Parts: sequence; structure tokens; C-alpha cells
Amino acid sequence: MGLTEASSLWSSKPILTLTMNPALDVSTSTDLVYSGHKLRCGRSSLDPGGGGANVARVIQRLGGQALAVFTAGGTTGDTYRRLMEAEGIPVLVAAVGGITRQDVTVDENSTGNQFRFVLEGPELSEGEWRTCLKIVGRSIRAGGYVVASGSLPPGVPEDFYARVARLAREADVRCVVDTSGPALTEALAEGVFLVKPSRRELAEHVGAALDSEQSQIDAASSLIAEGRADYAALTLGEAGAVLASKASVIRLPTPSVKVVSTVGAGDSFLAAFVLRLAQGNTAEAALRTAVAAGSAAVMSPATELCCRDDVERLEAEMVARALETN
Ligand SMILES: Nc1ncnc2c1ncn2[C@@H]1O[C@H](COP(=O)(O)OP(=O)(O)OP(=O)(O)O)[C@@H](O)[C@H]1O
Ligand SMILES: [Mg+2]
Repeated sequence: MGLTEASSLWSSKPILTLTMNPALDVSTSTDLVYSGHKLRCGRSSLDPGGGGANVARVIQRLGGQALAVFTAGGTTGDTYRRLMEAEGIPVLVAAVGGITRQDVTVDENSTGNQFRFVLEGPELSEGEWRTCLKIVGRSIRAGGYVVASGSLPPGVPEDFYARVARLAREADVRCVVDTSGPALTEALAEGVFLVKPSRRELAEHVGAALDSEQSQIDAASSLIAEGRADYAALTLGEAGAVLASKASVIRLPTPSVKVVSTVGAGDSFLAAFVLRLAQGNTAEAALRTAVAAGSAAVMSPATELCCRDDVERLEAEMVARALETN
């Protein structure tokens, strides 16, 4: 059974994604990047980016649905909202006085290099970030999921995701966090249902390189032992992922794929993982779809996310490989 047919058979627990620092992604290409002259670029595309929004977009592509909550301001904010709605995603916008940022990705045709310019988001006032918390509090549903993903813009306190985690716990909602630095540390101190650090992010958090398999397993497991999370999904780029929980530690390699652009891999991984859990699958089955989705995303150019056909094909390959080795 394909992913689409399977998804339509399973009802899903409600999922809300939160994007505090969205970015309108402009992607284009040029022959060579050098200084001193105008760089004439090819066609450009415009996508609504940022962790939570990407998670909602991938969930939609995989046959599910999430409510996307994000901040938006100015004409870029309007365009961002329209692009999300055009994908059929239900949205709730927290209007802000600042102007939604843009990010620029330039592929250099002659070398295959990719340049990513990530701008700072607009500063949020205390009233604005408190409104975001209120919107989340009003919109989450008991038994569902809230996915808080991405960086925090200036003005938002480092414990913002910890506040979301507390709200979620009080409402019997599973809080999922994908972020880095102090925002991650604060959220873990509060305790979450699922955390999805990359190797780089967890290494920074624990203050060790995590370059051996054992150190990776130990670091993910310690988050569970210390009560920081019920599940820790540590993603390892081309080396796949480790999923730690009270019950077990599972390691899953990636299928081999042609790497075009790694942008959006983590968001695709997380979207598939949460959707599968919300549909009532085991964590092990969810991890397989998640690794397939992450790897499908790296096959797509620039900031493009995974597409459903690739996820289904890679997942089927992984199932076949697992059957062969058993
Ligand atoms: N080079 C690759 N080849 C195959 N699959 C990949 C590759 N890079 C990433 N993936 C897939 O995407 C998932 C997430 O990738 P990764 O660990 O790089 O997380 P990330 O969140 O994108 O990283 P970061 O936030 O640090 O930029 C991996 O678990 C894997 O399934
Ligand atoms: Mg990431």
C-alpha cells in the first residue's frame, strides 16, 4: 500500500505548527558568484520557509494536515500567507508590526556550490510574542501535537519554546521542538515530548563532538534518562538517525540518494515523523518514514522540500532492505 492510500485510511490527531521567525525564501541561480559586478541570475522562485511552516507543508504533501501558526508583517508577510494558503494549508496569522524577512539562496551553476543568505527577522514586542502564546493556547487540542520549530526572532525570550512546552503539558498536548542554542536548552529544561536535534545541535548542547556512534547513542539516551524528552530523534545527515526513548534506542541508516541540496532535510524528517505518530503508528515505523522523507528532501534542488513519490519509493526500498537482512 502506498503512503497516500495508507494516509487516507488513518485519521490523525490534530497537529499545530508554530513558526516565530518565518522567511520568504527567494531561490535563484547564477553562473559564478564573484565581487565587483552585477551577478545576473536566472529564474527565481518564492517559497514560504521557516521550520514550522515547512513541517506543515510536508505534512500536507504526505496526505495529512496541520494548522500553521506564524507571525507575519508587511507585504512580504502578506505574500507569505498567500503562498501557504495556496498550498491548501489552514493558517492562523499573528500579525506583527515588523516586516517578515526574506532569505536568498543562490545556486552557482559552474561549480554546484550553493550560497544561502539568511537575514535577521523583525524584532517582536512583548505584546506580540505573548499574543503568539495565546493563539497557540487557544488552538491546541488535547491529545494532539504542537511542533515548535526554527529560530526565535529578536525580542522573543530564550525560554519561549519552554513556555510553549508548559502550555502544551497543561493542555495534554505533545510538544515537539526543533531548534538550537539557548532556545533548545531552555525547552529541554522544561521537558518536551519529542526533540529533533541534528548532530551539530546536540553536540553544541552537550559540549562534545559526538563523532562516534556510541557517543551519539549516549547523548540521545541521556536526554531520556534525565527526563528532558520522551523521544529524542538525533538526525545524522547522510548517516541517518538515532531514535532514543525509554523503550529502546533505534539506529536507521539512510537509503542511498543523489544529493542535490540538503536544505529542508530536517523539516521533512520531522514532518513525516510527527504525521506518522499522529496517525497512530509506532515510533519505529514513524522513524522509517522520517528517514525516507529527509533523504527524499536532499534529492530536490535549492529550498524544495521532499515530494511524496520519492518518500514512498525510498520507504519501500528501506522496507525491502530490512526484510532482506532479517
Ligand atoms: N546527504 C544525505 N544523504 C541522505 N540523506 C540525508 C542526507 N542529509 C540529510 N539526510 C536525511 O535528512 C535527515 C535530516 O538531516 P540532518 O541530520 O542534516 O538534519 P537537519 O535538521 O537538516 O540539519 P541542521 O538543522 O543542522 O541543518 C537525515 O536523518 C537523513 O534522513
Ligand atoms: Mg534542522
